[in-house]
Amino acid sequence: MIEYRNLRIAVLGAGSVGAQVASLLLTHKEELAGRVGAGLELVGIAVRDLDAPRTAELPRELLTTDARSLILGADIVIEVMGGLEPAREYLELALTSGADVITANKALLATHGPELFAIAEQVGAQLYYEAAVGGAIPIIRPLRDSLAGDRVNRILGIVNGTTNYILDRMDREGDTLEQALAIATELGYAEADPTADIEGYDAAQKAAILSSLAFHTTVPLESVHREGITSITHDQVLSAKKGGFVVKLLAVCERLVDPETGEDGVSARVHPALIPATHPLAAVHGANNAVFVEAEAAGPLMFYGAGAGGVQTASAVLGDLVSAARRHVVGGPGVAESTHADLPILPISRVSTRYQITLAVVDLPGVLAQIATLFAEHGVSVEAVQQTVGGEPGPDGHTPGATLVIGTHQATEAALAATVADLAGSPVVERVESVLRVEGL
Ligand code: NDP
Ligand code: HSE
Repeated sequence: MIEYRNLRIAVLGAGSVGAQVASLLLTHKEELAGRVGAGLELVGIAVRDLDAPRTAELPRELLTTDARSLILGADIVIEVMGGLEPAREYLELALTSGADVITANKALLATHGPELFAIAEQVGAQLYYEAAVGGAIPIIRPLRDSLAGDRVNRILGIVNGTTNYILDRMDREGDTLEQALAIATELGYAEADPTADIEGYDAAQKAAILSSLAFHTTVPLESVHREGITSITHDQVLSAKKGGFVVKLLAVCERLVDPETGEDGVSARVHPALIPATHPLAAVHGANNAVFVEAEAAGPLMFYGAGAGGVQTASAVLGDLVSAARRHVVGGPGVAESTHADLPILPISRVSTRYQITLAVVDLPGVLAQIATLFAEHGVSVEAVQQTVGGEPGPDGHTPGATLVIGTHQATEAALAATVADLAGSPVVERVESVLRVEGL
């Protein structure tokens, strides 16, 4: 057997993920070398502060604040620093200097992915990012390789652990959003500033990555419709539960026919949604993630597991490292990003789904008929109506005459928005309590 020279590995970042990547790489050096057919030599770890505490013991002499020199001497660069800059600049430097690159940085990929993939292709380098979506869960490689011969029609993903933890506590422990967020912060799931998680930014970045990959089309982050969970109330979760649903923050990526042009298109959106309690995604508890993929030939597939955590995420990074290192040893072109389909990205107004609308109404003869007429005028078909006398008092303390929970058949967002605007202006409607999309039926 030909002895291959050691491959020089640089790690950028030694935080939650980076410290575990470096530690596992040092601990399993021999075993990984056996799998790759070459030694994997960790040549350095770039950090900002040489004296910062680490979650794993790392040889002090490997730490450096000179990321650029480290990159220039490496065959493979692992970026686990996070942020847009200097991460983008470092990856560009790594690719143009001939190194393969591995990153866990979804913010960077969702924002600068196309330009980094273009550089990689130009210079014949590889860019791997299994850890960027769903932490330890293998989802990038299945979409890029295993399902490359199939046609993915839809992805429903629980891709943010913090919000799943919060919604799960609201559902199973009866917490308010504020109580659940406080516990998520105490346990270290939510950051001190939880905006990226609870406002859906983190999930939107992951939706941009998943939809680009699944539909062979560049889906920019700005085209992902985003709503967070901050408007979800304890009462909504409770009433969803009574109706046989759970509330989840979903990333929905789908192939659609544009209702205006009849052409194929794609859409990506992140928002809270009701899913039936019997759907596999309803069983995703705590901070776990899951990605439910509907492919034409394969049918439904579900990928489930730890969506975050230092050591769990390090598993995905090291999987990429073995792939990248093997390619160095055996050669070959590796995998390329495919954007050949280049489908139009449809705005949220052209997306169709089902809805559940809760209205506080006056309790008088003819009210139901007036409300049904408003739905009919916008072509929104009502599937089910449930009425209860009374309801929750509004902000003014007034208890409504009745509460209506109306489920619709598929309707476009545009038609639904117009219906809701008319409902809000109707003299028989005291309040539109909530409008939630229903997925997974
Ligand atoms: P941390 O904040 O814990 O660690 C970041 C590390 O990068 C630190 O060691 C920091 O150095 C170093 N660093 C930051 N900026 C620079 C810089 N300019 N030059 C040199 N070093 C720098 O981040 P995580 O480990 O949590 O996350 C890393 C990446 O992995 C992010 O992109 C994140 O989105 C992604 N990810 C994280 C997951 C998780 O569970 N944590 C899950 C999936 C993906 P110092 O320590 O000296 O400050
Ligand atoms: N903040 C993210 C989450 C970490 O809660 O899922 C992984 O991207």
